[in-house]
Amino acid sequence: MDSENPLKTPVLVLGATSLIGGHLLERLKADDLDPFAVSRQPPAGDACWIDGDLRDPDISSHLPPAATVFSLSPIWLLPAALPTLKARGMERLIAFSSTSRFTKTDSPDAGERAVAQALAGAEAAVEAWCVENGVAWTILRPTLIYDEGHDENVSRIARLVERFHVMPLSGKGEGLRQPVHAADLARGAVAAAHAPTTRDRAYNLVGGETLTYRAMVDRVFEGLGRTPRSLPMPTWLFALLMRLAKPFYPGATAAMGVRMGQDLAFDSSEAVRDFGWAPRAFHPRF
Ligand SMILES: NC(=O)c1ccc[n+]([C@@H]2O[C@H](COP(=O)([O-])OP(=O)(O)OC[C@H]3O[C@@H](n4cnc5c(N)ncnc54)[C@H](OP(=O)(O)O)[C@@H]3O)[C@@H](O)[C@H]2O)c1
Repeated sequence: MDSENPLKTPVLVLGATSLIGGHLLERLKADDLDPFAVSRQPPAGDACWIDGDLRDPDISSHLPPAATVFSLSPIWLLPAALPTLKARGMERLIAFSSTSRFTKTDSPDAGERAVAQALAGAEAAVEAWCVENGVAWTILRPTLIYDEGHDENVSRIARLVERFHVMPLSGKGEGLRQPVHAADLARGAVAAAHAPTTRDRAYNLVGGETLTYRAMVDRVFEGLGRTPRSLPMPTWLFALLMRLAKPFYPGATAAMGVRMGQDLAFDSSEAVRDFGWAPRAFHPRF
């Protein structure tokens, strides 16, 4: 497929320091595509990195010419940058969003509801702008992303397990999860960019297994070489625990407990059909 539909160059990666970014740059470099990479704090001494802030009204003076653009930064930063990207030659856009646009719509946490709204609004804006301006777009919505040691989902559970040797659960932790590896998403993004059928479409990208929150936690224990020891507790007690933990773990919210009982499961069969999406099963190794 790759040789039939070569990516148009130059290639630009926004959000190159994100979980997916390193894996994507590796793949693009392996294909001799010499991508440019954008960061507000680029590593020194590598000519492919560009110092750029998507909120900077003067971003146009920073960006190089690019025909294919991968956007891994928060999608709500993208609409304002689209005219500049087009002026620099963008013909093809592959932009990451998130299934949180669906799952956080009714969250008890106002911040999470705002994220869902921002994601949905940005997706609509990107789609409408690209249609109007002749740019082929693909939006990819991962579920929960992990990359052992680097993410704030699975790896955060691993850090808690290492520290406390036990993982508290709200209720029985029976909500369904589909953790997806950042390296699989990088491979998927390149495959989607090559496949003509993905033009002007959005896809949900789930991991290779659907399992309960509790089973996901058990796999984290196993990945650390430990015997699983999760601690189910009533939802009110978990919420109280989160409130007490908040000064030490600012990310701790009662909404996390509510979500442990909710199914956050999606279907990727269209991605399988259109660009051979084939993510790994969930066996993290730390
Ligand atoms: N983490 C998850 O579980 C998850 C789940 C579903 C979907 N997603 C989506 O997948 C993508 C990657 O997720 P992530 O969690 O690894 O990354 P993230 O935290 O959403 O985004 C971080 C990236 O965005 C860049 N960025 C942020 N503000 C910027 C600005 N003003 N100008 C330029 N770049 C800016 C950062 O670059 P610098 O800091 O280097 O400037 C960094 O590379 C995102 O689109 C995210 O919404 C994530």
